[in-house]
Amino acid sequence: MSYILKILPNRQIGQLYTGKRIHDQDSFDHLLELVQRGMSVNVFENDRTFSLEHIKQEFPAPLQGDMRTASIDLEQENGSRIVQFLYESHEIFPGKPGLTGLPATYVENDKEATTLHITLKDALLETKVILKYTIYEHRPVLARSAEIINEGSQHLTLHALSSFNLDLPDAQYDMIELTGAWARERNIKIHPLHEGIQSIYSLRGHSSSNFNPFFALKRKHTTEEQGEAFGFSFVYSGNFLAAVDVDTYNTARINIGIHPFTFSWPLKEHTSFQTPEALLVYSSSGTNAMSQTFHSLFRERLARGWWRDHVRPILINNWEGTYMDFDEKTILEMAQQAKDLGIELFVLDDGWYEGRNDDTSSLGDWFPDRAKLPEGIAGLSRKIEQLGMKFGLWIEPEMISRNSKLFRQHPQWMLQTPHRPLSHGRNQYVLDFSDPDVVDHIAGMLENVFDSAKISYVKWDMNRAMSEVYSSAHHSNEQGMVYHQYILGVYSLYERLLSRYPDILFESCASGGARFDPGMLYYAPQAWTSDDTDAAERIKIQYGTSMVYPLSSMGSHVSAIPNHQLYRYTPLSTRANVAYFGTFGYELDPRQLTEEEKKTVSRQIAFMKKYRDLIQFGTFYRLLSPFDHNECAWMVVSNDKKRAIIGYYRMMQRVNERFGRIRLQGLDENLKYSIQGKNYIVYGDELMNAGLITTDASAGEDNKKFKEGDYLSRLYILDAQ
Ligand code: DGJ
Repeated sequence: MSYILKILPNRQIGQLYTGKRIHDQDSFDHLLELVQRGMSVNVFENDRTFSLEHIKQEFPAPLQGDMRTASIDLEQENGSRIVQFLYESHEIFPGKPGLTGLPATYVENDKEATTLHITLKDALLETKVILKYTIYEHRPVLARSAEIINEGSQHLTLHALSSFNLDLPDAQYDMIELTGAWARERNIKIHPLHEGIQSIYSLRGHSSSNFNPFFALKRKHTTEEQGEAFGFSFVYSGNFLAAVDVDTYNTARINIGIHPFTFSWPLKEHTSFQTPEALLVYSSSGTNAMSQTFHSLFRERLARGWWRDHVRPILINNWEGTYMDFDEKTILEMAQQAKDLGIELFVLDDGWYEGRNDDTSSLGDWFPDRAKLPEGIAGLSRKIEQLGMKFGLWIEPEMISRNSKLFRQHPQWMLQTPHRPLSHGRNQYVLDFSDPDVVDHIAGMLENVFDSAKISYVKWDMNRAMSEVYSSAHHSNEQGMVYHQYILGVYSLYERLLSRYPDILFESCASGGARFDPGMLYYAPQAWTSDDTDAAERIKIQYGTSMVYPLSSMGSHVSAIPNHQLYRYTPLSTRANVAYFGTFGYELDPRQLTEEEKKTVSRQIAFMKKYRDLIQFGTFYRLLSPFDHNECAWMVVSNDKKRAIIGYYRMMQRVNERFGRIRLQGLDENLKYSIQGKNYIVYGDELMNAGLITTDASAGEDNKKFKEGDYLSRLYILDAQ
């Protein structure tokens, strides 16, 4: 990709071009469109062409003639909010520095990327803004953030600072968003841009299941396979606002940052503020290519630690199997059966800590409930390890129940607004993670548990949106910092636990997928995709999630029927055929499985062990959208293109269905492939052009042969000969 900037005549930074890579030239000045437009506000006397209202910019300031969304809102001691950040200097250097306390994409070697820092200065305020750009050498990715440094003597207040602004020269795009709610996260919504501001946001304190911090702009004719697309992603887990401001002159301004509504930051003399990072991915060959760029970036240069490069353990989680009603005997019976089926990791979910029998109590009391677990977590994990399995534990460190020892000792540690009623969510309240003392105390409790036992995996949950946010640890004029400092507190606890327990595999979770964002992936390489474990709903949720996030990050489990969220019956084969495309595991009581089902489950586990390297580290393609069809198809191709798996799903069964073929993608056109279950061998180019016949999955009279009803699925496995 090319990203071309210019120092404008007034020394602001102009944006000249972003898109497919073009030849370099000494000057691109001709791309600066200076047009005299009636009644515009202009910068230079006797010049009616240089109007900030119309010029495409990188760091637009408010109140000086640019009437669109601005990148900064900085209040000064005299009450003015006018600023003039003008070019002072720049530097270009190899590599990519980290962002202190914040998640960010990284490089392992300085040759992977080049960074540009542009320093802008407001001379009156003696304050600088550094615009930080990193462009990757072999990925069409631009990472962008901003830092403001107050070098003067004024006490400033920062009300907004964007991470990223991009002005595109036209607005003929469709916007792709991932919207949803609890248990129906990340459904794909596509709509044309129109004049005015269209935005996605969170004011919930987490990135939310309602709007994911991602959107894409694609041309009308762009498909999964061809055409231009820009993907935008915000590496942050808290309140955000990502807007496209389309003016009436057919330009589109993209602006991404922390949501200004809940934010204000005292920028005292000699202090600074660094924004989170935003990412731009460019594709000239469709939305699959855009997603693949995000997938490999997030898998290889956002996720960290040993687990980044390793296939994930097949786990069983007891949540839907027992909820909080269990004891050690039950858990050990389940674990033994799971072990016999080939499962590698047992995860003990909510309900293990003192007094936790329902959701009204105990959050904050992170010590084992001896009534359920007489030998504690240490004893249970030892016994599970003795079975030959690994042991994992669920925690929810950011929360507190009123009925808890922690609350009785530290009632002031909850976020709550003085003299106001306090809302609960699932009967629980939010700890003040903006206060380092609170974080330190919780860390100490968790370390006691983690040090006492062999723990290989941790599921970090967060089960409510935040409300009445006010911190008694902060001065009254610092309350605008609290949402952001809360998230910094979460990140700091992750960092502390990761450095002390580098071998633990973390899975993030927020009532399912309310914090499935790039910020979390920096700490936890996988996330619980949704509390909805119904296979048919999961097809949509995982399909939508794949717009940005790699399969290796998607927690996906087979659960029992009738499904606990929808009471729907789906075949065991389909439940697994969906869950394979993620980290894979089971979320049920294995003691309830019939002997026949156990044989099937054993085969499923053996299958996943054989193919998980391909699934979790191959290249993923969406083929057929469940949002548009009764069917869905996707595939993963190994990096050497010698192996591939296609998942094909049909929601409602139909009699005398039309013929079906799927045109595959990503294969080597010159290689011959066998297809398991079919008695012919074909070239990759045939599969990608003539297509793979799916009619045999169900058609007309054959329904009688297969005796399969709704929610049938097939896997097609290709091996190069
Ligand atoms: C919400 C999670 O998404 C579930 O998987 C489970 O861990 C419950 N919380 C436990 O309270």
